[in-house]
Amino acid sequence: MSQISIKEKAPLQGELSPPSDKSISHRAIIFSALADGRSLIRNFLQAEDPLRTLQAFRQMNVKIDDKTPNQEIIIHGKGLNGLKESRDIIDCGNSGTTMRLLSGVLAGQPFTSTLTGDKYLLRRPMKRIISPLTEMGALITSDNSGFPPIKIKGGGLKPINYISPVASAQVKSAILLAGLYCEGLTTITEPEKSRDHTERMLKAAGVDIDIRGLEVGVRGRAVLKPMDITIPGDFSSAAFFMVAGSLVPGSEILIKNTGINSTRTGLMDILKMMGANIEFHNMREVSGEPVADISVKYAELRGVEVGGELVLRAIDEFPILCVAAAKAIGTTRITGAGELRVKESDRIAAMASELRRMGVSIEELEDGLVIEGRERLNSAVIQSHGDHRIAMAMLIAGLIAEGETRVEDTDCVNTSFPGFVEMLKGLMKR
Ligand code: S3P
Repeated sequence: MSQISIKEKAPLQGELSPPSDKSISHRAIIFSALADGRSLIRNFLQAEDPLRTLQAFRQMNVKIDDKTPNQEIIIHGKGLNGLKESRDIIDCGNSGTTMRLLSGVLAGQPFTSTLTGDKYLLRRPMKRIISPLTEMGALITSDNSGFPPIKIKGGGLKPINYISPVASAQVKSAILLAGLYCEGLTTITEPEKSRDHTERMLKAAGVDIDIRGLEVGVRGRAVLKPMDITIPGDFSSAAFFMVAGSLVPGSEILIKNTGINSTRTGLMDILKMMGANIEFHNMREVSGEPVADISVKYAELRGVEVGGELVLRAIDEFPILCVAAAKAIGTTRITGAGELRVKESDRIAAMASELRRMGVSIEELEDGLVIEGRERLNSAVIQSHGDHRIAMAMLIAGLIAEGETRVEDTDCVNTSFPGFVEMLKGLMKR
């Protein structure tokens, strides 16, 4: 089991380009595989999670060429009906996005598939996709009452109008993907608007998609056009550097080519409320997604109250937000974030226990945390809980701690951000 120690405490300076967007990478594979013809994907995230999605489609007989000279991916899409039953179980690894989005696709197939994952994914709830997909006509069984592994016998779907109890892009996407296989209009209404990469990509693929406030509708049966897509850097990966640059005195960095889709940039708004010196520059659009370079300078942060729609727009940034709060002047109160209990780990409990080891005073709420900021953290031995974002957030916490901080069980970083530590250390060299 690997571990990483942080003891250098130099200001962060220079430029970096974060790895490609994980959510968009998954979707680029899925929609290209379902399109009729050859798609080109540039800047695909070569990390464990999206590679699970790629492997799943290979298992279903989609030809995917990833040995191209410019590290592009070429997908020879088979159309909606061209997938073949996988001979083996599909292993989604740690990736909830792979399992939930694939379930929507598999619900439309005239064959049976089994999806499993690692010990962390096996603890994540799947009823949220099993219920609507069952309503649409798929036969889904889980011998573990709503947890993976799940078996999906697809085909013969009918459209539904689903009111989702949870704001989740994975649930929304699973239903829209299944909707491609239905005759007529399938709609999903969310309590709040989750990330909209699926809607953008379906539109780009020429699918008839209708967005009215919180309701998204897709008309099937659809034909998807092949795509030529360039994937931007991942705001959720940039987030670690946005906070690191804000917390370490003397830092000044430029994070280039980062997606700034407003359904994802809640952390930017929260950090600004806290007094951060962060700006978007060179705003542009790349393959239907807004992109910018982000400048970050050290600033003294103040505690804030975070709740409501900001939480969903910063849902994956909660671990690193807690680190910002741990150094801010005063109290930060985060509420309405109960979904964090069912992410790659229980991120509320994990951040409470790991920041406490560093001397931070924290109150754990059912749906959030109350964090008292302090000038400096104590060094400690930290557990990642097998969660990439906990591991990276706590390594950033190590930058503002006395002495050496060691984070254990760090292989999980490779699910979204291979090369994270090298990139961080690259900013410390002058
Ligand atoms: C994702 C949606 C979010 C997010 C996850 C990626 C996606 O999950 O937390 O990291 O790519 O659709 P939920 O849909 O469970 O909120």
